[in-house]
Amino acid sequence: MGGTRDWDASTYDRVSAPQQRWAEGVIDRLRLRGDETVLDAGCGTGRVTQLLLDRLPRGRVIAVDGSAAMVAEARELLDPVRTEVVQADLTELELGAPVDAVFSNAVFHWIDDHARLFSVLAAALADGGRIEAQCGGRGNVARFYGAVAGVVSAGGFPELDGFEPTHFPGPDETAELLSAAGFEAIDCRLTPRPTRPPEPREFVRTVCIGPHLDRLPAGRRDALLDAVMDRLGADPELDYVRLDISARKRAARA
Ligand SMILES: C[S@@+](CC[C@H](N)C(=O)[O-])C[C@H]1O[C@@H](n2cnc3c(N)ncnc32)[C@H](O)[C@@H]1O
Repeated sequence: MGGTRDWDASTYDRVSAPQQRWAEGVIDRLRLRGDETVLDAGCGTGRVTQLLLDRLPRGRVIAVDGSAAMVAEARELLDPVRTEVVQADLTELELGAPVDAVFSNAVFHWIDDHARLFSVLAAALADGGRIEAQCGGRGNVARFYGAVAGVVSAGGFPELDGFEPTHFPGPDETAELLSAAGFEAIDCRLTPRPTRPPEPREFVRTVCIGPHLDRLPAGRRDALLDAVMDRLGADPELDYVRLDISARKRAARA
């Protein structure tokens, strides 16, 4: 899946107001004192990481992302004294010292193996440390995926037959995986967040359809995007559904 694929970081930074808005609620849930060390799992361009840093005047953030372009933007933006920006695949992450909390926004649905992801994040956390995260959940942007499927089944893009770059889980399966990875006090829930992005074509190109475009030769990418945008219509509403995840790492038994 999309772990180490690169992103158009500067366009993402410009069009990702919806993701930034959703992130604010997730950061609130961390209820930070201000002196913690927090892992931002999938920091993107660092815009959301900066909101997290604003709540940590005496703390630090370890900001991790798999995309070189995203990491470069985040390094430009974030205070190097209070932030360590690391380029790594989250499913391979190993930190030198445990963090107090894990935060993540709009990332986990790009990762296929959530059992592995949650065990890596549990290993990164101190005992009793919290994870507060949000990602695409069951049914997320179904109209967009329906439009892509319609275009692909009409022919002309055989590279995309059966291609599914995202994984949108439900709350029950996620809670089970969190428990198996060593978390307790688990709360997972789905919330519909229908969204009209301000620059729909650039938003869909940058946020939704990147992995599909990556599979096509450069000369055929616009044809796919045009065909999908035709099906979505002018000023489309994207039927976002977010999966909110809250849990605490179980303390090891003495
Ligand atoms: C939609 S962006 C979200 C960025 C930021 N958290 C925000 O809210 O704006 C998704 C990010 O997840 C990163 N990502 C996806 N899979 C990853 C993985 N396996 N390891 C590290 N980063 C990953 C991508 O590179 C991208 O920067």
